[in-house]
Amino acid sequence: MSEVLWAIGRMSGIVSLILFTLSTVLGILTHRGRPLPGLPRFGVVIVHRNVSLLASVFLVLHVATLLGDSYAKLNLVDVVVPFLGSFQPFWQGLGTVAFDLVLAVIITSLLRHRIGDRAFRFVHWFVYAMWPIAVLHSIGNGTDGTSGWFVLILAACLIAVGSAVIWRLSTRSRSPRVMTPVAPGSGRSIR
Ligand code: HEM
Repeated sequence: MSEVLWAIGRMSGIVSLILFTLSTVLGILTHRGRPLPGLPRFGVVIVHRNVSLLASVFLVLHVATLLGDSYAKLNLVDVVVPFLGSFQPFWQGLGTVAFDLVLAVIITSLLRHRIGDRAFRFVHWFVYAMWPIAVLHSIGNGTDGTSGWFVLILAACLIAVGSAVIWRLSTRSRSPRVMTPVAPGSGRSIR
């Protein structure tokens, strides 16, 4: 049974990482409402949200199944408090840090209407830190961390996020600033 949980735990971790990569790419592409050539922005935002939710479902499966794996020796506290584990505490702790960041983003997304857009956006920035931390956790903690096929998946993830960052930075320097209309003589914004 433990072998089955271990296999499901590893596979769900990999699927979760791929989905978080896709979610990060979509988040970078739609950052601050900039248009995407040929794609409706609201559609991309909806896909971004649903992919993130699916990634979180696989993350819960990853953690829940590895809790039942006798080799990983995880305790419930290791899921939320980093660096306490008995098996590779540093690399596993990075997974916990990534998990806590995902949790913070989910909670602030649910409370967005109460806490306001500024607080939501502030916390949402941390999700960009979550992705490289999760990648390091996968390499350091995973049985497959150095297998050829896993390195190929990681390389594809890195290229995808790297390309999105480069594309975003290049459009930032080229796109004209959006000017806020000002009421004549008042010096105040019309909006
Ligand atoms: C965003 C958060 C996380 C992501 C994306 C993630 C993803 C991954 C991936 C891709 C692997 C490698 C699987 C393999 O080598 O086949 C892995 C391994 C592992 N993860 Fe996570 N993980 C996350 C959080 C966590 C948390 C919170 C824990 C538990 C506290 C955890 C525990 C483990 C363990 C014990 C392994 C080693 C499994 C093994 O190969 O024996 N992970 N994780």
